[in-house]
Amino acid sequence: YKRITVKSLIEMKANGEKISMLTAYDFTMAKIVDTAGIDVILVGDSASNVMAGHETTLPITLDQMIYHAASVVRAVERALVVVDLPFGSYQSDPKEALRSSIRIMKESGGHAVKMEGGSEIKDSIKKILNAGIPVMGHLGLTPQSIYKFGTYTVRAKEEAEAEKLIEDAKLLERIGCFAVVLEKIPAHLAQKVAESISIPVIGIGAGGGVDGQVLVIHDMLGMNNEFSPRFLRRYANLYDTMTSAIGQYVTDVKSKDFPNEKEQY
Ligand code: KIV
Ligand code: NA
Repeated sequence: YKRITVKSLIEMKANGEKISMLTAYDFTMAKIVDTAGIDVILVGDSASNVMAGHETTLPITLDQMIYHAASVVRAVERALVVVDLPFGSYQSDPKEALRSSIRIMKESGGHAVKMEGGSEIKDSIKKILNAGIPVMGHLGLTPQSIYKFGTYTVRAKEEAEAEKLIEDAKLLERIGCFAVVLEKIPAHLAQKVAESISIPVIGIGAGGGVDGQVLVIHDMLGMNNEFSPRFLRRYANLYDTMTSAIGQYVTDVKSKDFPNEKEQY
């Protein structure tokens, strides 16, 4: 195998090869995702929802993100591992943003960081890039700002917000980000952004006109039944598979079917 780097991703875009990306938060899942051939693993702050059960991404801490990221890095041989900077670890000033990024790189072994926002966090992104740490941008629906927006509905449907998003994407490219995630925006706008910058645009709920796709692993494996946005395709129904397997185990224990003669010493 050959390790995926930020350079590989930029080459993939130039060659018209779509980029595959999924989240992972722990060793066992990351090993499966990496072995299956994914290009990029995102240790997303969606861990706050998926792993910890919080309603938003805001509560997860930098220490907790580092724990998840280190677990993922120990499993991965091929994929590029990108780690979300959590809410509160980079917004106050560029020095704090750099300090948080350095902690992620040193303590988890991740290969890049991701942060939400455009012009507002330009100075922080520059400072991190100057330290040699690759940065992935994230525009459109930015869940760390949920209390400013109030809802998780589609973003940038209006002209002014769409214009700012295009300007922000160009800015992220200009200052040196290696890729940008666009979350839940109209497909035509996402395609326009992908066509106007040369760094890869990875979409989630942003249509097929972009350079790659990302989904939350638990969602695409169908591990929860509650979250069903239009953009989500389920590739398995692990909720049912696991529930019936566990139910069968309970039945077998109760009925003394498990363990049998061969399943003991
Ligand atoms: O945290 C996350 O899972 C993400 C993806 C949805 C892009 O940021
Ligand atoms: Na995130």
